Amino acid sequence: MMADDWPSFYHETERLILRDWREEDWAPFWEATNTPAVMQWLVGLLDEEGMDAMQLRWEGFAREFGHTFWPVERKEDGAILGFCGLKLCTDKNGPFGMMEAGWRLGEHAWGKGYAKEAAIATLDLSFGRFGADETIAITVEENSSSWGLMKRLGMKRRPELDFEDTFWNADYGDAIVYSITRTAWTMHRASFIG
Ligand SMILES: CC(C)(COP(=O)(O)OP(=O)(O)OC[C@H]1O[C@@H](n2cnc3c(N)ncnc32)[C@H](O)[C@@H]1OP(=O)(O)O)[C@@H](O)C(=O)NCCC(=O)NCCS
Repeated sequence: MMADDWPSFYHETERLILRDWREEDWAPFWEATNTPAVMQWLVGLLDEEGMDAMQLRWEGFAREFGHTFWPVERKEDGAILGFCGLKLCTDKNGPFGMMEAGWRLGEHAWGKGYAKEAAIATLDLSFGRFGADETIAITVEENSSSWGLMKRLGMKRRPELDFEDTFWNADYGDAIVYSITRTAWTMHRASFIG
């Protein structure tokens, strides 16, 4: 591969690759994730305009912050399973500017530990390469898969950071916030090493 083609962000786990977005990722990403099951607790199905806006947003985070919600590629077959990654919280009503982890996988990839594997890498990157002292994650009360993962990662509820989210979760009550500090992650991280 030519040096110019080498992505500026690339990270491998046992079964997955987190990396910069490529143009050819978007079609399989939306095919896997723009489904009623995946979008249930988010904004519902996105139309073309909504998908384009998200693409611009996540590509913009990569340029602005050096990190974004990266595509999750499965090494075995190159499938784009979804995204997992880091942005700075952009919610003006919420914990604006804090390092925020997020995840979204197509339903065919659920229940196989891929989200946990990608999220562990994401927290390692947050506290390592990207130098965060604390990392938050945001969901809604009904989204037990998402807050279940947050708890599994050792994240703790921070009700004082909850906020009214008028975009993603407008219909599902306040956005709820979990967080973990670098010190807590260092201690909890050891529990994943078998
Ligand atoms: C959230 C999401 C990424 C989790 O994916 P997943 O495939 O279930 O996750 P994993 O198989 O890696 O499981 C990770 C951990 O989450 C926890 N978990 C998963 N589903 C859970 C549930 N329904 N209730 C409680 N905990 C759950 C488990 O502790 C699991 O760890 P364990 O198997 O070691 O016990 C997936 O459900 C998803 O993409 N949902 C739609 C998009 C979305 O809502 N994203 C979050 C927006 S806030």
